[in-house]
Amino acid sequence: MIILGCEHTAHTFGIGIVTDKGKILANVKDSYTSKDVGMIPHEIAEHHEKCSERILKEALKSAKVEWKDIDFIAYSAGPGLDPVLWRGYTIVSKWAKENQKKLVGVNHCCSHLSIGKLWNKMKDPVYLYVSGVNTQVIVQESKKGQKKEGKYHVLGETLDIGLGNMLDKFGRILDLGFPAGPRMEQLAKKGKYIELPYIVKGMDVSFSGLLTKAQQLFERTQASKEDLCFSLQETAFAMCAEVAERALAHSGKKELLLVGGVGANKRFCEMLNLMCKERGATFYQVPMDLAGDQGAMIAWEGYLRRDSYGDMEVNPHWRADEV
Ligand code: ATP
Ligand code: FE2
Repeated sequence: MIILGCEHTAHTFGIGIVTDKGKILANVKDSYTSKDVGMIPHEIAEHHEKCSERILKEALKSAKVEWKDIDFIAYSAGPGLDPVLWRGYTIVSKWAKENQKKLVGVNHCCSHLSIGKLWNKMKDPVYLYVSGVNTQVIVQESKKGQKKEGKYHVLGETLDIGLGNMLDKFGRILDLGFPAGPRMEQLAKKGKYIELPYIVKGMDVSFSGLLTKAQQLFERTQASKEDLCFSLQETAFAMCAEVAERALAHSGKKELLLVGGVGANKRFCEMLNLMCKERGATFYQVPMDLAGDQGAMIAWEGYLRRDSYGDMEVNPHWRADEV
């Protein structure tokens, strides 16, 4: 079986082609960028429309397949930006009609989890999903003899903003440009620790108090940029590590998989790796080319959920635990 997957929830339009054995035959993408105005949904939708036929051609060519070889089309049904999702849906619907292919709508967040699990050949990890918008600790149901993909359960999450968004907001205050995560990581290397609010409530975390305190210290010139970046990272990452550790303890699972853009941070990985080692668990990451948004993850998730989902138009607020 060969599946074509299309990603179009945010600024990336991507097409991936994978086999039912999880072999990635092609993974081509193009991302919308803007210098200073951020993400404008209708402009992103235009971008996707403009590059769609080219990306499709490149993907088919790179995979050395034709439409006749494709069994069905998986597409990102959500969560995402409403006008962008609809434009993507219109594009894949057209291809499905022209080539008489079935459509399978998939959840973008679950796709990040399943491509990480596939690549690392993992059995049953605890997932720590930390992107701009999302900060969640997730496990998947797995029962003996279970044939279908198990349901995801969110054990803990942010009560306010996502970790990446918090870093980006503080980066804007420091005038670091967007996204701020990578610049902050560099500045943090020269910083020392100042105490900031550490907020973990049960399995959930909260970042807004931390952000407000760091902002106050910066505006009152009571701390340097470097110290604030270092302390913000240390505090927020330790909060995430704490709930991830508790999830490992409660579930009895032995593997932790980090997914999402904040996973690029080396210090964060170092902390999680240490925590896992101390409790006899193993820490895993996703390689750069599969960590960001792309079509291969959509194709693979479509394969896993092919019997449960079909053409479902779009669902802009679809949570991983509703799948
Ligand atoms: P999704 O829709 O899948 O949740 P997203 O678009 O919100 O994804 P990602 O692309 O997964 O987010 O991640 C982007 C975030 O990762 C940004 O907030 C960015 O600042 C952060 N980031 C990227 N590199 C680093 C880094 N080295 N350190 C810390 N944060 C980083
Ligand atoms: Fe994503």
